[in-house]
Amino acid sequence: MSVILVINGPNLNLLGTRQTDIYGDKGLKELNEELSKLAGQLEVSLKFFQSNSEGDIIDYLHKEGPAADGIIINPAAFTHYSYAIRDAISAIETETVEVHISNIFSREEFRHKSVISPVCSGQICGFGFYGYAMALSYFADIFKGK
Ligand code: DQA
Repeated sequence: MSVILVINGPNLNLLGTRQTDIYGDKGLKELNEELSKLAGQLEVSLKFFQSNSEGDIIDYLHKEGPAADGIIINPAAFTHYSYAIRDAISAIETETVEVHISNIFSREEFRHKSVISPVCSGQICGFGFYGYAMALSYFADIFKGK
């Protein structure tokens, strides 16, 4: 069975209470439960990680990334400036999809740029929690039968 990492960056532990007009009223626990359910149907295995620390995300990528089949990452604010997370994704060479809950292009200008996108196979943004499910469906499809 293929293994997909689901990594969420800073402040996403506050989902459900943080700026609910932008991020919705469901929490990270609910997101992970929804994804676990979908993963069961799609017959893939998920590993979840959330951290508010850049270094911890990098350490997790180093530790779990090489053996994983795919990575779904919402780097949150690190998206816009973390060359270190970008380099970690490049270094481990596991296919990675970038996800954002909100449409970063319809928000403040500083959110329009992602330094992570160039090292990902694609980016999904603006579809709320559904973006993670889209990324998961993609991986399940390409790893079908693995
Ligand atoms: C976010 C968008 C980022 O700009 C922001 O810093 C976040 C969440 C999103 O999921 O829409 O924390 O990544």
